[in-house]
Amino acid sequence: IGREVVYFEETDSTNLRAHELGAGGYPDGTVIIADRQSAGKGRLGRRWASPEGVNLYTSVLLRPDILPFMAPQLTFLSAVAVARAIGEASGLQPRVKWPNDVLLSGKKVAGLLNEMHAETEGIHYVILGIGVNLNMRPEQFPGDLRYPATSVAIEKGSTVSRTGFARCLYREIDRLYERYLAEGVAPIIREWEGLCDLVGRQVEVDCQQRIIRGLVTGLDEDGALLVRTAEGTEERILAGDVRPMKG
Ligand code: BTN
Repeated sequence: IGREVVYFEETDSTNLRAHELGAGGYPDGTVIIADRQSAGKGRLGRRWASPEGVNLYTSVLLRPDILPFMAPQLTFLSAVAVARAIGEASGLQPRVKWPNDVLLSGKKVAGLLNEMHAETEGIHYVILGIGVNLNMRPEQFPGDLRYPATSVAIEKGSTVSRTGFARCLYREIDRLYERYLAEGVAPIIREWEGLCDLVGRQVEVDCQQRIIRGLVTGLDEDGALLVRTAEGTEERILAGDVRPMKG
């Protein structure tokens, strides 16, 4: 990871640049990084606030030899790598929220937007899009956030070096990616489950116009959240909004 690094002072979105480089034949492990993004992309067509200089906006181009249905597994790889790097940078204990957020003190500190380009014969490339709020100050957060947000510096009480953090993050991605290629997703899923507060708790999931209530038992290899309902059925949830049940 990072043998090839493409740096932008400003770009619209590092994920868009990564698509161009992916189509242009750049190698496995190419890293794209920007000081600011003019149109940072969040999930579900949302925007990702990307002010200059304070945070990390990066995309990693990977060319794993996997089938398209396996690509979502790499979201968990990025989440574990980001959680490890934040832990090292801050001494705090980040947690993960299904499917793709990293939290500090219950607030969102990083977001992941993985995208892939598949062709009939298999995966062409995968992009790990990673945004980490490192040194953002409270007044720099947009006012209309759906979920409470924070930065590593706010939680730690002092600023974090962006380059030091980036180096640590790419090292963790490198380690996890090597293990993923050798052993598959199972070890990553186990580590992710250990970082997720919802495993073992009663939750309510809002998905496709129905609400599922039950106990989170873990993740399966496709990254689906497993929920055991009171009726004893096991639901596999591929998309939805999960919240812990009160009481
Ligand atoms: C989310 O939580 O909605 C995902 C946010 C992902 C943001 C990162 S910043 C680097 C990369 N480039 C983008 O345009 N988005 C991702």
